[in-house]
Order: sequence, then structure tokens, then C-alpha cells
Amino acid sequence: MNTIDCIRTRRSIRKFEDRPVRKDLIEDLVETASYAPTWKNTQTTRYIAVTDPAIKEKIAEDCVLGFKGNTNIIKSAPVLIVTTIVHGRAGFERDGSYSTSKEDRWEVYDAGICAQTFCLAAHDAGLGTVIMGVFDEAKAAEVLDIPEGQIVSALIALGYPAQSPEAPKRKAVADLLSFR
Ligand SMILES: Cc1cc2nc3c(=O)[nH]c(=O)nc-3n(C[C@H](O)[C@H](O)[C@H](O)COP(=O)(O)O)c2cc1C
Repeated sequence: MNTIDCIRTRRSIRKFEDRPVRKDLIEDLVETASYAPTWKNTQTTRYIAVTDPAIKEKIAEDCVLGFKGNTNIIKSAPVLIVTTIVHGRAGFERDGSYSTSKEDRWEVYDAGICAQTFCLAAHDAGLGTVIMGVFDEAKAAEVLDIPEGQIVSALIALGYPAQSPEAPKRKAVADLLSFR
């Protein structure tokens, strides 16, 4: 698939086939995502692939702030990718001070680029994804025993798509772009 087609045809997938995703394929996706640009090449995004049904169930039931949509997605997906950020490096000087007025927000920016790179790689491999932001960060960190110094960034459902949704309407370029 060429790059433009991959970007334009990727859709958020919320229903998945009951079919596992091979571990080496997940490894390939993370390797591709590692080529995403990051602040001073700090590469602070980490990926946890949750396939254990009991852990997935616990996240689906207890960690989505009661949002049934995400409960159903997580139950349907054979894999839940949880991305985390090694806090305090991207956007920081060596002495721990902020490099810019965006303070610690560059690490979240980097994690977003990594997430989209991961999702595009998955789409290219015939897999579907949806990034989920509606979740309880503290509860997810507890269930997954996230190491000290890392923060949970996003949940990404991963699996073989069982739907092919239309693209939600996009804004016109005239609304997005201005020249100076
Ligand atoms: C940061 C972020 C958080 C999102 N959170 C959720 C979510 O919690 N649940 C969900 O079903 N979709 C979620 N989405 C998916 C968006 O709804 C989706 O990307 C948008 O509607 C555009 O559709 P498309 O991805 O098919 O182009 C999220 C997307 C992003 C980037």
C-alpha cells in the first residue's frame, strides 16, 4: 500500500474478528513505530501488548470510566496495546528543567506520533486499530503495574477488522490551512 492510501484509508475499527494476532507481527509493528520522530530521538514511548483475557476484561470493565463503547471495543479486540511514556525526558534539559514553554507536553506529542505510526503500520499489515482516550489513567496503571516513572498514554485496540466503516467527514482544507 502506498503511503497516501495508507493514511487516507485507515479507519478507527471498533469490531474485530475472533482471531489472534501473531506475536511477531506485533513486534514488527512496534519496530516500525520506533522510526517515528521524537524529541531529540528520546524514544520515550513504550508498548504493552495485553492478550491475557482476564487482564483485558478487567481493563474493559473497570478502567474506561463507564464508557460502554470502549468496554465493547476492548472485549472485541484480541489485543489491547497500552502505550506509556517514560516521563521527564522529551522536552526536558539534562538538569530536569523544561526546554520550552510547552513544559512536559512534548512527551505526549511524541506518544501521539508513535501511536499514529503504529496504527498506520497495522493498517498496512491488514490489521485494524482504534486509539482510545476515554479511560481511567490511574486505574489502568494499577491493573498493569506500570513501572515508576512511566505514565499511561493511550489504549489502542488491535485485531483483524470485522467492519469497514466510512470515513467520518473531514474539514475542508480552507478551514484547516492558512498562509502568511
Ligand atoms: C486521542 C484520541 C482519542 C480517542 N478516543 C476514542 C475513544 O475513547 N473511543 C473511541 O471509540 N474512539 C476514540 N478515538 C477515535 C476517534 O473517534 C476517530 O479517530 C475519529 O472519529 C476519526 O475517525 P477515523 O479514525 O476512522 O478517521 C480517539 C482518537 C484519538 C486520536
